[in-house]
Amino acid sequence: MNSSTAKNGEAREYIESTPKRQGKVGRHCRRFWWVWLIAFCLSILVIMIVIVYAILPAVGQKELDKTVLNLHSFTILEPSPTSLLLSVNSTITGASGIAAHSRLEPMEVSFFLENHKPIQPFMSLQLPGIKGGSAVPVITTNVTTEITSVPGLTEFSALLLGSETLRVAIRGRTTLWAGKLHTKVNYNEVVTIKGFNQLEGMEIEEYTLLNQTQQADGSNLGGKVLIPNPTVFEIQMGDVHINMSLNGQTLGNGTIPGLHIRPGNNTYDFRAKVQTSALIPLATALGSGNPVVLDVRGNGTDINGVSIPWLAGPLSALNVKVPIKARE
Ligand SMILES: *[C@@H]1O[C@H](CO)[C@@H](O)[C@H](O)[C@H]1NC(C)=O
Ligand SMILES: *[C@@H]1O[C@H](CO)[C@@H](O)[C@H](O)[C@H]1NC(C)=O
Ligand SMILES: *[C@@H]1O[C@H](CO)[C@@H](O)[C@H](O)[C@H]1NC(C)=O
Ligand SMILES: *[C@@H]1O[C@H](CO)[C@@H](O)[C@H](O)[C@H]1NC(C)=O
Ligand SMILES: *[C@@H]1O[C@H](CO)[C@@H](O)[C@H](O)[C@H]1NC(C)=O
Ligand SMILES: *[C@@H]1O[C@H](CO)[C@@H](O)[C@H](O)[C@H]1NC(C)=O
Ligand SMILES: *[C@@H]1O[C@H](CO)[C@@H](O)[C@H](O)[C@H]1NC(C)=O
Repeated sequence: MNSSTAKNGEAREYIESTPKRQGKVGRHCRRFWWVWLIAFCLSILVIMIVIVYAILPAVGQKELDKTVLNLHSFTILEPSPTSLLLSVNSTITGASGIAAHSRLEPMEVSFFLENHKPIQPFMSLQLPGIKGGSAVPVITTNVTTEITSVPGLTEFSALLLGSETLRVAIRGRTTLWAGKLHTKVNYNEVVTIKGFNQLEGMEIEEYTLLNQTQQADGSNLGGKVLIPNPTVFEIQMGDVHINMSLNGQTLGNGTIPGLHIRPGNNTYDFRAKVQTSALIPLATALGSGNPVVLDVRGNGTDINGVSIPWLAGPLSALNVKVPIKARE
């Protein structure tokens, strides 16, 4: 009882004293309200500045760096010595935190080989705006792309044709919007992609001898060739010319006309001109019952007569072993 009275007494004393203090503070506030307002505005400003200039760029960049680009398809059409028509179907995953709730303005990204020093971007691509989310599709269709470095692109296609996997870096710079706030961010991504692995598994599936005098190009052999494509790349390669030899002996030349290579195991028509002196050795080898394996090397590629050096070079560098499938 006693203690509670004492407490009440204290409370009363406190209540009695506050109106005076409130009055003082109130008067002070009324007189200097503008000081408080300015202080309040300044602190909001400081907080905003910290968010916009320090936290948002750092956090936005960090979250963007965590994302992963998944390539579903990469299509190269209408190749020319200076440009190509690109289509990419991809998704960006792994966006969390601020990146999942923000959006990126459209940006131009450039492609280069990861370990190439100095970096040598070989092409660039205009990407659409990207909204945050858990799996964001990033799709572009038929974008005309200038080749920014022919040596760079040649190196890329050599690796694409020759390796099992390769690493390609993609870089861009754009604006990230988080609600009404925005900041500049760098888009840096390295993707590991499957290559054609030296066209391993290429095989002549069927062939027929042609009457040479009836063929406009003088071919005496025609058939179908299997070209496995374990990659996500679809490439219009044009008329691919090949040199063929058997056990070190020149056999002749051939063409895979209008080669438009698609993902998966597909067969394509080919035509060849086996030189007269090689016809009998070839026929003997085929008749022997032993496996016959041709050595095939690219000897140029062109579309409507225009040579495509960045494809031709790498194709001629590959020496592909192509077995002829035995007839049943
Ligand atoms: C992109 O790829 C996905 C997954 O392979 C597929 O379902 C979708 O239809 C493709 N979209 C376009 C526009 O090609
Ligand atoms: C893209 O271009 C190719 C070749 O010019 C054409 O065949 C195809 O229909 C085009 N695709 C779209 C979606 O426009
Ligand atoms: C090839 O075609 C020419 C012209 O049509 C014909 O004269 C010739 O007999 C044919 N040769 C063979 C081996 O069928
Ligand atoms: C290889 O290509 C060169 C240059 O285009 C051409 O002159 C040559 O005849 C081709 N060789 C064969 C065997 O097709
Ligand atoms: C073989 O090479 C010659 C000379 O370059 C060319 O005229 C001919 O079309 C080629 N044949 C094939 C089947 O590629
Ligand atoms: C293509 O053929 C190879 C060898 O037979 C096989 O390992 C691979 O799975 C096939 N790829 C597709 C896409 O069917
Ligand atoms: C193809 O054969 C021709 C003629 O035999 C030769 O001049 C050319 O260098 C060969 N091409 C390649 C890539 O070996």
